[in-house]
Amino acid sequence: MQNKTVLAKDTQFGKEVYEGLTAFPKHLSSKYFYDEIGDKLFQDIMAMPDYYLTESEHAILEEYSSEITQQFAGDGQPFSLFELGAGDGKKTKILLQQLVANKVDFDYRPIDISQNALDQLERSITTELPAVIVNPIQGTYFDTLQDIGKQNGRKKIILFLGSNIGNLLHPQAIDFLQKMTAVLGEKDLLFIGMDQKKHPQTILNAYNDKEGITEAFNKNILKRINTEFRGNFDANKFMHWEVYDPETGTAKSYLVATEKHTVAIADLDLKISFSRWETIHTEISQKYDDPTVEWLTGKSGLEIVTSFSDKNDFFKDYIVKKKTL
Ligand code: AVI
Repeated sequence: MQNKTVLAKDTQFGKEVYEGLTAFPKHLSSKYFYDEIGDKLFQDIMAMPDYYLTESEHAILEEYSSEITQQFAGDGQPFSLFELGAGDGKKTKILLQQLVANKVDFDYRPIDISQNALDQLERSITTELPAVIVNPIQGTYFDTLQDIGKQNGRKKIILFLGSNIGNLLHPQAIDFLQKMTAVLGEKDLLFIGMDQKKHPQTILNAYNDKEGITEAFNKNILKRINTEFRGNFDANKFMHWEVYDPETGTAKSYLVATEKHTVAIADLDLKISFSRWETIHTEISQKYDDPTVEWLTGKSGLEIVTSFSDKNDFFKDYIVKKKTL
């Protein structure tokens, strides 16, 4: 029993849950939304018409795949195509197809925290695009950046699609991009998707579906705590709430306790009280504009080579490289 307590608290997830639920105000990290159920819920979110991000980026990749391929492979050098947070790879396959059609010499290295997502992705690429050499890497973005850095010699192109960077606050995003800059060589490129500021209602609708998929996605972290650390969260005692600040471009998700109650998490030796309307902050989804992207990349030692946007200017993909001094 004692051993189990120590083990749960010693895991990164356990530590962050303990810290987050004993903090004031309470918070949990959205990176723990993702397990087999969370992956499926996120796929369902990406298929929702209100979640415009996926469709917008898909349209960009469809429309500009040959320009993008030219940017990646125009110099004729073979490269490794890394992808951070690869997910189901639906959008990436548009680029992979174009690279294969142009007989470009590359290998594809998808990186994801979820082994389940990676297994599914590898299977589907092997079937749909057998010419692509796939080498999956399981891990968090931060850990795997180091692996990427060790690929000395071969040119690297790093994909970071879906505005995944938006789940980081600006200081964390800069820290992350600086680590990225450190592994980039002169010829390497980063291809990064960033959701843009737009009508605030459009943004709220993307995170507020009536079917409750986004709510279930947020609540999946409570489920995980229950199953992985023997917690007794009752998800029905929380509601999901989304806010968007058009000034900062930050969308924030909360789980709000609808009644006063106590939750026990046996393996973390933790009892937490919730007052009525107390919040757990679960996620940020940052929205950007060009000046902000220039500021973020500049602070991180990067410069924008070019960018592509969809017809509504909802979403942009930027190609960036290490700043030349
Ligand atoms: C993965 N990430 C970019 C998504 C987002 O838009 O912040 C996660 C998500 N959360 C709720 N809906 C989608």
